[in-house]
Amino acid sequence: MSPSDPTFPTRRAARAEAERRATAAIPIPEPASSRRRSTFEEPMPDEGSRLRRRETPPASGGELGTPSRRALRETPRAALGALLLRRRLAVAAAGAVVVAACAIAIGIAASGGGQDATGPANAAGPDAVASVQGPPAVPAEGLPVPTLAAAPAATTPCDNPAFTSALAAKDDGAAIAAAGGGAAFRDAVASGIAPCVSLSDPTHQWVVVNKQRPYDPVDWRPDDLVMPDGVRALEQSAMRSSAAKALTTLVRAADDAGAGEIGYLSAFRSYGTQQETYAGRVAVGGVAAADRESARAGFSEHQSGLAVDIVPCSGSCGSLDDVAGSSQGAWVREHAWEYGFVIRYVDGQESVSGYEPEAWHLRYIGPELAQAYHDGGYSTLEAFFNLPAAPSY
Ligand code: DAL
Ligand code: ZN
Repeated sequence: MSPSDPTFPTRRAARAEAERRATAAIPIPEPASSRRRSTFEEPMPDEGSRLRRRETPPASGGELGTPSRRALRETPRAALGALLLRRRLAVAAAGAVVVAACAIAIGIAASGGGQDATGPANAAGPDAVASVQGPPAVPAEGLPVPTLAAAPAATTPCDNPAFTSALAAKDDGAAIAAAGGGAAFRDAVASGIAPCVSLSDPTHQWVVVNKQRPYDPVDWRPDDLVMPDGVRALEQSAMRSSAAKALTTLVRAADDAGAGEIGYLSAFRSYGTQQETYAGRVAVGGVAAADRESARAGFSEHQSGLAVDIVPCSGSCGSLDDVAGSSQGAWVREHAWEYGFVIRYVDGQESVSGYEPEAWHLRYIGPELAQAYHDGGYSTLEAFFNLPAAPSY
């Protein structure tokens, strides 16, 4: 079967086939069941147009708006008087709302409840991204302004020799420990006080790759690729050594817990392999569809050696689309973070991550950061590190 075969079942199935063809050294068993589309593949509501609709004022002067010319022409004098009286009352009410809002803003500032510009970046919730933070409150003229005690300056791990030497030695675990742990490291990076940490450096487990963040150089490849021990590999596809060890531990734990065997299809993909993978998807569904499910070369997490596409196995192995409904998939959703992995592309986050949900795509970020990600309730690395959303190239 090939992607060009008209009997090829679905885009997802075609995608798995194309990915397999791109790197396969060992034949992949046919999926036990036909591919299913996830409900998320339905067209997304147009958030922008929804917002635009909400902001559009009434066309002819609403209950509290300005009467239209037609209304003035056609309304008898008495009714017009009532209309204008209602309008004055509305203006007075709006003025009262503005005064109350100013008073509330000052009250919040006085109680220290607001988020200042240098504070932790997730004040708007774990999935807020940099582009959606609101403007600061402005005190109203003529009202008393309380004096705030100066907040202690946050200390940057970049001034800590234990941190900088661990960074230089590429010992990510030691660097995070020196920063005070995963949550403290994340807070420092996300709030911008740790310029010595680069989220673009693919040698670190915290690298963030998305449609706005390609590798530099674009064909970068890791130099410590190994096959994970004791894990069924449907392709001869390696991982960076730290991620490979963690995958071995995760797979054993899932089996011990009775969740069943976890195998994998694709882990590291070179720049050239990703070119073929992406081209295969374009050939099947066109550019727009391909861009929702496959990264262009130079923009894929698979090129980091830190990502892996798992499959559930029971005798033979299932497909990528079988993960979501399998016991293995359920176990991974609950426990992957304990082994340093996050599910990178989840339901409802395509506008941030740039991709449809992929229950099978695990990304290694190390146990300390994965715990902070889990405990903080994050759904994307973009929100975790306070980076802009990356829905497109
Ligand atoms: N399927 C993911 C987005 C990749 O191609 O990297
Ligand atoms: Zn993947």
